[in-house]
Amino acid sequence: MHFLLLLSISGVASAEFIKCDGVIFRGVYFDKVPFVRNFYKPSNLFLHKFSGMLFFSNTVLNGTNITDFTITSCSVDSGRCTDVHGIPGGFAIGYDQGNDDVYLGGHDGIYKYNFVSRAAEFFGEEGKSIWSLFIRKNFYYIRYPEQKLYVYVDSAFVKVAEAYHFEVDIFYISRQNDIYIANKTALYKIEHPSYTSIFLADNFVVRQIVEDGFGDIYFCGNDGIYIEDKPAYGVKRVAKIDDAYGLVFDENDQVMFSDRDTIYRLKQSPYSNECFYALSSYDQNGANK
Ligand SMILES: *[C@@H]1O[C@H](CO)[C@@H](O)[C@H](O)[C@H]1NC(C)=O
Ligand SMILES: *[C@@H]1O[C@H](CO)[C@@H](O)[C@H](O)[C@H]1NC(C)=O
Ligand SMILES: *[C@@H]1O[C@H](CO)[C@@H](O)[C@H](O)[C@H]1NC(C)=O
Repeated sequence: MHFLLLLSISGVASAEFIKCDGVIFRGVYFDKVPFVRNFYKPSNLFLHKFSGMLFFSNTVLNGTNITDFTITSCSVDSGRCTDVHGIPGGFAIGYDQGNDDVYLGGHDGIYKYNFVSRAAEFFGEEGKSIWSLFIRKNFYYIRYPEQKLYVYVDSAFVKVAEAYHFEVDIFYISRQNDIYIANKTALYKIEHPSYTSIFLADNFVVRQIVEDGFGDIYFCGNDGIYIEDKPAYGVKRVAKIDDAYGLVFDENDQVMFSDRDTIYRLKQSPYSNECFYALSSYDQNGANK
C-alpha cells in the first residue's frame, strides 16, 4: 500500500511521498525491512541467540515445480545465508534450550546441528519423515504424513497417548506449561494444570506458534498474526499480513516474519503516526477488507 501524505513540517507546507507499506503490529505502525529475499515459503523461523543465526525451512523449486525442502541458516548481522548440509529434505527445527542444542528433521530422521562444521549430524528415527520438532522438558516430534505426535520416553520415541486418535500439525508448549495444538480442524489450548482441551479458533491456518519475552503467545496465521485473547478463550488479530509463513522475535524482542518469498524485520518508522492513521482509515473504509 502506498499513500501520499501532505505534511506541514515546521510551518512550511510541503508535499512528501511516504510509503506506508509496513505493518500495524499491536496498534503501532512499523516499517517492514526485507532481511533476506528469494526463499520460497520460509517457514519454522528460529533465532539461535548465542550464535546470531536465524534458521528456517524453505521449499526448493525448479521453475515452478517443488523439488525438495531445505533448511537454511542466515547470520542476523550480515544477512549471509547458507543451506545446512547433511540432511535430506530438511524441514523441522527444534531447540533444546537446556543444552543449547538445535535439532533438525527431514525426510530421513532427526539430526543435530553442529555449530563448528555447520552441518547436520544424524541423531535418530532413521527412515521416518519428520514434520515438526518441539523440545521443552520432553522431546516431541510430529511424523509425516500421518501427523502423529511422538515423545521420547525411556530411550525410544512413542506415540503420545492423549493424541493417539487425532492429527497434530503444530505443537507448542508455553513456559507456563499450557499446550497449544493446531490441526486441520482448529486451534486448541490444553490448559495447565487441568489439561482440559479448549477450542480457540478455526478461521485461519496456523503456521507457527511463538512466545515473546513477556510470555504472550502468538499464532502466525495465513492472513496475519494473532495473539491469545486472555482471559476469554479466543484469539485476536494484531497484524494483517498476506500469506504469512513464519514468525520469530529477535534478540531485542522485535518482530521478524516471513511471507511467500521474503523474511522481514519490523523497524520503528519515523512516520509511525501518519501511517497508522492512513492505514487505519483505509481499513475502516473497507477498501482493504
Ligand atoms: C530442473 O528441471 C530440468 C528439466 O526437468 C532439469 O533438466 C534440471 O536439471 C533441473 N534443475 C535442477 C537444479 O534440478
Ligand atoms: C515441471 O514438472 C512438469 C511435470 O512433471 C514437467 O513437465 C516440467 O518439465 C517440469 N519443469 C521443470 C522446470 O523442471
Ligand atoms: C484436531 O484435534 C482435535 C482435538 O485436539 C480433534 O478432536 C480433531 O479430531 C483433530 N482433527 C483431525 C483432523 O485429526
